Amino acid sequence: MKQLIDLLEAQHSLTKEEWHRLLTHWDEETAEYAAQKARAVSQKRFGKNVYIRGLIEFTNICKNDCYYCGLRASNQKCHRYRLTPDDILECCKIGYALGFRTFVLQGGEDPGFSDEVLCSLVKTIKKQHPDCAVTLSVGERPRAVYESFKQAGADRYLLRHETADDDHYQMLHPENLSPTVRKQCLYDLKDLGFQVGTGFLVGSPFQKTEHLVADLLFIQEFKPQMIGIGPFIPHEDTPFSNEPAGSLNLTLFLISLLRLMHPDALIPATTAIGTLQEGGREEAILRGANVVMPNLSPADYRKDYSLYNNKLSDGAEAAESRQALDARLKTIGYQTVTDRGDYQKR
Ligand code: 5AD
Repeated sequence: MKQLIDLLEAQHSLTKEEWHRLLTHWDEETAEYAAQKARAVSQKRFGKNVYIRGLIEFTNICKNDCYYCGLRASNQKCHRYRLTPDDILECCKIGYALGFRTFVLQGGEDPGFSDEVLCSLVKTIKKQHPDCAVTLSVGERPRAVYESFKQAGADRYLLRHETADDDHYQMLHPENLSPTVRKQCLYDLKDLGFQVGTGFLVGSPFQKTEHLVADLLFIQEFKPQMIGIGPFIPHEDTPFSNEPAGSLNLTLFLISLLRLMHPDALIPATTAIGTLQEGGREEAILRGANVVMPNLSPADYRKDYSLYNNKLSDGAEAAESRQALDARLKTIGYQTVTDRGDYQKR
């Protein structure tokens, strides 16, 4: 298996057969070998710097009904909220003072938060903080709407493909959601000049090795600037409440592989990783991740943005405790930086 890791490091890609062999035959030693290489690649590009993004979860209202997600439309137990533009601007102001230079506006697909309001909000943020990047993560929209977001000044867009296999996609989503549309959104966003992030769930229900192979091949081909992956974690008020969580070790191994595939990519140590295991995010950084996205939403709302059970929202996860985050990163010899942290191709 080490030869395959060497090959991936040298040419940044593997064939479908090679990916399949690697994902069916890897063991702890393979993962450790990949981790060392990925860490070296990461440190060569980024040193021991970790980029931070202030995550503002501005609405948990969603018209979609994804089977895995706690914010799905049919979840009657979810206590819904929507921040006002002024609330969001206040979050940015607080975040700016804490050293955040990227604001990520993430929300459900909320028809009550209009595209026009979102555009005017983006313009205002860019005007108030011209040295900051704005990332949007508001799901699937027509190309023309993405274009208006870009014109308003949005720099980046996050939209995970969730699973690259069409049949598997249909097992995780209701019929009205289409894997083709989702991928088209990603190509539209890239074409419009956004820095684009995508990613997938690790260990989602019905996931087979061939699906992960498809995910890796998709990312290999699409070349996103940002890649976010995390373990599936069940949410009690969804149809997948009794399904087991995804594997942390597999997630960490995949992060190393993604780093070797795309040395320049921005790869977050995601909240789901930190939720599944204390110290998980530090582990992800040591295995190739270089971004963390602390929560900048008003504290009172955080518990309601419940994508999955026990989602972390305080401690080093909270933006206001950047010091706590720095202290944790210091234990592994890393530090956060006050920087937009744009994608740069070397
Ligand atoms: N477990 C882990 N991640 C989840 N997400 C949604 N539901 C879950 C869950 N149960 C992820 C999706 C989505 C992102 C915002 O949160 O991948 O793209």
